[in-house]
Amino acid sequence: MANDRADKLSAYGQDHIHAYLEVMTGPERQQLLDDAEQIDLEKIAELYGSYRASRQQGNEKKVFEAAEVLQLPRTAVFAAERKRLAFIGEKMLREGRVAIYLVAGGQGTRLGYNGPKGCFPVSPIKQKSLFQLFSENIMALRRRYGAALPWYILTSQENNAATCAFFKEHNFFGLPADTVQFIIQKENPSLDLDGRIIVSPHKKIFKNPNGHGGSLYALKDSGALAEMAARGIDEIFYFQVDNPLAKIADPLFIGAHVENRAQMSTKVVRKVDPAEKVGIIGRVNGRLGCIEYSELSQAEIEERLPDGRLRFSSANMAIHMLNRGFVEKLTNDPDFRLPYHIAVKGIDSLAADGATVKKIDGIKFEMFIFDALGFAERSITLEVPREDEFSPVKNASGADSPDTARAAMIARYRSWLQESGKLHAVPDDLVIEVSPLYALDPVEFAEKYAPPATLPSPLYIE
Ligand code: UTP
Repeated sequence: MANDRADKLSAYGQDHIHAYLEVMTGPERQQLLDDAEQIDLEKIAELYGSYRASRQQGNEKKVFEAAEVLQLPRTAVFAAERKRLAFIGEKMLREGRVAIYLVAGGQGTRLGYNGPKGCFPVSPIKQKSLFQLFSENIMALRRRYGAALPWYILTSQENNAATCAFFKEHNFFGLPADTVQFIIQKENPSLDLDGRIIVSPHKKIFKNPNGHGGSLYALKDSGALAEMAARGIDEIFYFQVDNPLAKIADPLFIGAHVENRAQMSTKVVRKVDPAEKVGIIGRVNGRLGCIEYSELSQAEIEERLPDGRLRFSSANMAIHMLNRGFVEKLTNDPDFRLPYHIAVKGIDSLAADGATVKKIDGIKFEMFIFDALGFAERSITLEVPREDEFSPVKNASGADSPDTARAAMIARYRSWLQESGKLHAVPDDLVIEVSPLYALDPVEFAEKYAPPATLPSPLYIE
């Protein structure tokens, strides 16, 4: 048995693992041994192959085209069309044919928060966590549509326990616990630049979550897809953990997607600043997908259409509608693979003496959800106003940080107050937060809100 393992490790160029095993004893040795037994060496060879291929293709220039975008601004001209599509989405929601899927398995390295990103306190007055905001939002939607709207949350091996504990500690923020399901995504080992497995300072094989593209496989592997089918769910609303403004299960988006019989759709916001480092929904060599900022030349980044808009302006919000049958079809197809995206990062690695730790360059392999767009025969790209729906928390400070997200939340609620027409003017310095349980949109807000004689600041409305 031990010889078999040694032969196999050697055959795949991984025999350096034996040097570690030789200097380790007891449970540590056993742990690494178990890890080495379980690791899929063929998969590792495939991962490394994709790294080598990516280096060879590195300089090939791809052909990029802008995506066709559906624009439905909130103006009188589009009012009837918006209403018609939202009606279709609302019907889907009322009939309980939509599930909600939050992907929260990322490592949140840039934010640098000690814990799952969803636990980060983000709201401007009450310091509600992202998870609490989403929970309240979903509770309000379930009440509004009188439907179950089950919620699936993707976690990683790394953050699953902490995420589940956070929800338990807060009594699921009032949601029935059995309506929220946590699923766990798979991991990929990182490799050194020669394709060798890295041993972490914890004396385990170093792995990282397999990217948000892993969320599709996780739906199948966890049994969630089968469960959805059994419950009559046809469509999945997908969103990411870092955007407190996400309009969860937006009926307009659901309606546009369903009416067009789309298999996978995307929400975008208009990119106006060429320097904004954001992925663009568009065609890559003819296939719908996401063009990464780094892939465009400076001329392409700055290129403008005759009307002055940027040519590549559909900024990916990472909000999708996924048709359940489409996800089933992809994940049941043995030949279906999302490509690996490769990042070389500094990784703490244990040296073969079993004691010294040094930072080495390691290759991280992730799959991205937007690559599934290229497999969809039909897709809608819906543009929505950034100020209403998008302010991601990515960095600890500066752009896309908790500060910008809080400012965006305050601005959104101030605009609701303004739009309600119940005040002459909204004071410039008003700090306001509206609970999702009070109102989910400006229309609901305007219906309910009666301002007091003098507005306090900060103003929390619940
Ligand atoms: P990001 O690309 O922002 O990555 O994820 P991240 O890991 O959260 O943050 P950094 O890059 O380390 O700073 C976008 C969304 O995809 C989810 C994240 O939780 C976030 O909602 N995600 C990412 C996963 O669910 N799994 C992954 O393996 C990666």
